[in-house]
Amino acid sequence: MVAVAKAHPNIALVKYWGKRSEAEMLPDVGSISITVSGMLTTTKLAWDDPEANTDGRDVVIVNGESRPDEVGKVSAWLSRFREHNNISQFARVESINDFPTGAGLASSASGFAALAAAAFADAELSPTREELSRWARRGSVSAARSLHGGFVELFREGDSHATQILAEDEWPLDVHIAITSSLRKDVGSTSGMKTSAERCPYYGAWVESQEADLQTAREAIAAKDFEKLAVITEESCLKMHSVMMATPPGLIYWNAGTLEVVHRVRELRRQGVGVTYTIDAGPQVKVICEPQNSERVKDALNDLKGIERLIHAGLGGDIEVTRQ
Ligand code: PMV
Repeated sequence: MVAVAKAHPNIALVKYWGKRSEAEMLPDVGSISITVSGMLTTTKLAWDDPEANTDGRDVVIVNGESRPDEVGKVSAWLSRFREHNNISQFARVESINDFPTGAGLASSASGFAALAAAAFADAELSPTREELSRWARRGSVSAARSLHGGFVELFREGDSHATQILAEDEWPLDVHIAITSSLRKDVGSTSGMKTSAERCPYYGAWVESQEADLQTAREAIAAKDFEKLAVITEESCLKMHSVMMATPPGLIYWNAGTLEVVHRVRELRRQGVGVTYTIDAGPQVKVICEPQNSERVKDALNDLKGIERLIHAGLGGDIEVTRQ
C-alpha cells in the first residue's frame, strides 16, 4: 500500500524568521500565511517497500532525482517518526513539485506537510490536526501551515502548531507569483535564519515587534480589510528582509527583477489599486490582490523585463491524503 498526499505551498503575510529551538524546530515568532493553489507537491510514501527494507535505508526521490541534500533532512525526520511510533520499517518516498524547487517558493513547506500526512496515513495512524501540524513543523517550520487551506496562523507558544483562521472560499484572493530566477538559492532559510539570530543587531527588535504585527493581520483578516492587510504584509516583508540584509555578510535574496516588481506594485498602490506583495528567502515576488483587480495587476506586471514567468494562483485548500 502507498499513501499519496497532496499539499500546496503557503506564503507568509506576517513572516517567520528565526528559531527559539533548533533541535525542536520551534519558531521564535508566530506567523500568518495564505495557502496557494496552482502549485502542488505530490508525495507517495510506502513503509513496506522491498528495496528500502532490503537495503536498510530510506529511499528519497525528489522530482525524479535522489538528492543527497534533501535525503538528509527527510531521513532524519523519518527516523524520528519511526522511533516515536515504534515503526521498524524503512520508507520509500517519492515527491514531485510542479513548480521550481528550492527557489524561495516554499517547496519545503508543502514537501514536509505532504511527507507527514503520507507517513501517518501509510502507517494507518490517525493523528489530530494539531499533532499532524507539529510533525510537519519538525521537518520545516513553515510546513505546519501547509496542512490547512485559506488563511492560517502558526503559534509561537508551546509545542507550536498551526490552525486555520479563515477558509479559502470565505475571502478569495488572487496571487501572481513573479518568478525572477528559477535557480536554487545559495543560502537556505535554515542556515540563514540561524545566522540572523546570532549576528543581526536588529534580531531582538524583529522578535519583539512581531506580536503587534500578528494582531494587526488578525484584525485585517477578521474584517476582510484588504488595505489593512496590504500594509502589514508589506511592512512584515521589508522588516524580515532588513534583518536578512543586516545579517553579516549580508543575506541579499533579491535580484534586479525583484526590485522592479516591488516598485511596480507600489506604483499601482499609489494609483489606488488594492494590491500588495511579499518576498521569501529567494528572489520571487508574490503579488497579492482581490480578484476584481487581478487583470489590472497582471497587465502591470506583464511588460517587466526581470520576470521570467508569471504564475497565477488563488487560495488553496487543505492537504489531501489517500491510500492506494
Ligand atoms: O520553515 P522554512 O525553513 O521554510 O522557513 C520559511 C521562512 C520564510 O519563507 C522566509 C518566511 C515564512 O514565514 O515562510
